[in-house]
Amino acid sequence: MKDVVIRRAELSDIPRIVEIEDCSFEVPWPDFLFKAHLSNPGFLVYEKEQILGYVIIGTSEDRTRSHLQSIAVHKDCRRQGIASKLLNWCIDLAKLYGFERMTLEVREKNIDAQLFYSENGFKVEGRIDGYYVDDNAIVMCRDI
Ligand SMILES: CC(C)(COP(=O)(O)OP(=O)(O)OC[C@H]1O[C@@H](n2cnc3c(N)ncnc32)[C@H](O)[C@@H]1OP(=O)(O)O)[C@@H](O)C(=O)NCCC(=O)NCCS
Repeated sequence: MKDVVIRRAELSDIPRIVEIEDCSFEVPWPDFLFKAHLSNPGFLVYEKEQILGYVIIGTSEDRTRSHLQSIAVHKDCRRQGIASKLLNWCIDLAKLYGFERMTLEVREKNIDAQLFYSENGFKVEGRIDGYYVDDNAIVMCRDI
């Protein structure tokens, strides 16, 4: 059995990442958006025999905080700690870049993700009405 690897995403990973995206979001990102992130060192995949999840981090608009842009785990592999491992890995990366806080927006309707973030130390900082076409955003933050 192959070991678990967390590593930077590569071009050949994109079809599988899109598969995970399509089973995870009502409005999934298309492949070209993932391709545009390939130069980002904060675009990571979790691989065990095949890719089971991905995460993308960047910086907040004012560049003072790391920003969790997206995270998803294939629907058949959830509740096995995969997203938590990806999150911890990218938190370590953000710390290497000198960040002390991580922020994110999550759909108000996405209670499962909010529970996941709470479990991983994020606290609600605010709400942005109309952030998404069809939903408000809950803003969550944590020290890292
Ligand atoms: C949110 C998501 C990334 C979590 O991935 P995961 O690998 O299942 O998460 P983990 O196994 O690391 O979960 C860690 C803890 O978070 C909490 N948690 C995770 N998913 C949860 C859920 N659906 N309901 C309640 N709590 C949940 C639990 O406390 C869990 O620990 P436990 O399984 O021991 O109870 C995954 O459900 C997903 O891909 N969802 C669709 C995409 C999405 O909504 N992404 C976030 C966008 S902002």
